[in-house]
Amino acid sequence: MKIAVLKETRSGEARVAASPETVKKFVGLGADVAVQMGAGEGARFSDEAYQEAGATISPSGADAAQSADLVIKVQRPTSEELRFLPRGAKMAAILSPHNEQEEVETYARLGVDAFALDFMPRITRAQSMDVLSSQSNLAGYKAVIDASAYFGKALPMMMTAAGTIAAAKVFVMGAGVAGLQAIATARRLGAVVSATDVRYAAKEQVESLGATFVTVDEEAMKDAETEGGYAKEMSEDFQRRQAEFVGEHIKKQDIVITTALIPGRPAPKLISEAMVQGMRPGSVIVDLASEQGGNVELTRPGEAIEIGGVTILGFYNVPGRLAADASSLLARNIYNFVSAFWDADKKEFVVDWDDDIFKGIALTRDGAVIHPGFVNAPSTSQPANETTADDGADDTDNDSDDNQENPEGSQ
Ligand code: NAI
Repeated sequence: MKIAVLKETRSGEARVAASPETVKKFVGLGADVAVQMGAGEGARFSDEAYQEAGATISPSGADAAQSADLVIKVQRPTSEELRFLPRGAKMAAILSPHNEQEEVETYARLGVDAFALDFMPRITRAQSMDVLSSQSNLAGYKAVIDASAYFGKALPMMMTAAGTIAAAKVFVMGAGVAGLQAIATARRLGAVVSATDVRYAAKEQVESLGATFVTVDEEAMKDAETEGGYAKEMSEDFQRRQAEFVGEHIKKQDIVITTALIPGRPAPKLISEAMVQGMRPGSVIVDLASEQGGNVELTRPGEAIEIGGVTILGFYNVPGRLAADASSLLARNIYNFVSAFWDADKKEFVVDWDDDIFKGIALTRDGAVIHPGFVNAPSTSQPANETTADDGADDTDNDSDDNQENPEGSQ
């Protein structure tokens, strides 16, 4: 069983899908691991460290992938990488397939069994394999650090001989994995924190972190969560009342961190231009949803901008800005997934197509698209029942999206 670890080639992607620690564990299971030269550079894992862990270093991606049974990656493969994936191989990565119907069909055409790790079901058994959680957690932390770097004031209250500095007020919108970590981080830094979400379960979690939960309608929140634990899109009436409330609340905030997402839908717009105009100069907004269209009307994806004295950060791939930790956690998620389906006698990864985990993440099998979200969708449009913020599937036979400035699936 050969496992190939490729160097990420999309622009701005410093993470890697395996660490020396997980390579050692794969080798311990009896796998051969080939790591593309320099794959760990961005995460500060040297080729020597991979070699010491038992990997072979391959001079190119094509070389690493040659006759591989399993290819592991961080982001969806580029068209160049698709060319050298061996027919019959399995591939696991954050494939962000929501708007990539044609790519999903390409995986099938190439005979690659593709597993979208970002579709990992949220069941207890799969928690240690949940790449969205591990990456969102770091993004929530980094959002607060980024905000404080652009904020011209301190976060904690400080009593000095020269007088007292007031604690900063931080408002977190969306209290999922990223939001809860942002709350915890801002609290650790001494800020006064408030937060909102549409899911009722979030209220208690926010309060247990010492933040104030604010909402316009607690009753409406009781029906806002899907069985999978994600948010539903709220009614227009709720959205209107939420907007009125948010407009007033953020006038008094120093830092606002937005993390609100609805799977497969554009990120809900929570902060309008008028609301930004109502904020105090010097305030900072971090829009962690920028890759899914942004929660803030004025966000420029990938950029830091200042409008009327308010800074809006819309950085891409925020977990990738902590590449060493993000890679270590992602690598463990992938190892936990692969080892859970490892046949110790045959020393190979064996797919159980009837297992809920594979039902959730398997896009293709033996040359056919099998995931219900993609199986019948017309190739030029979006998957059935899904719409997204992005504007159309890329043609994977064309190089235009390689090294793109907007790497997707980076959370
Ligand atoms: P997400 O990244 O999809 O969304 C972020 C947050 O935005 C969510 O809390 C969502 O409710 C909120 N949101 C959506 N629309 C909003 C709006 N209009 N206004 C305000 N907030 C809005 O969510 P994430 O971080 O993936 O977590 C979703 C849930 O899944 C959480 O309860 C989390 O604890 C749970 N979870 C469960 C796991 C498990 O294995 N059991 C693993 C990871 C998360």
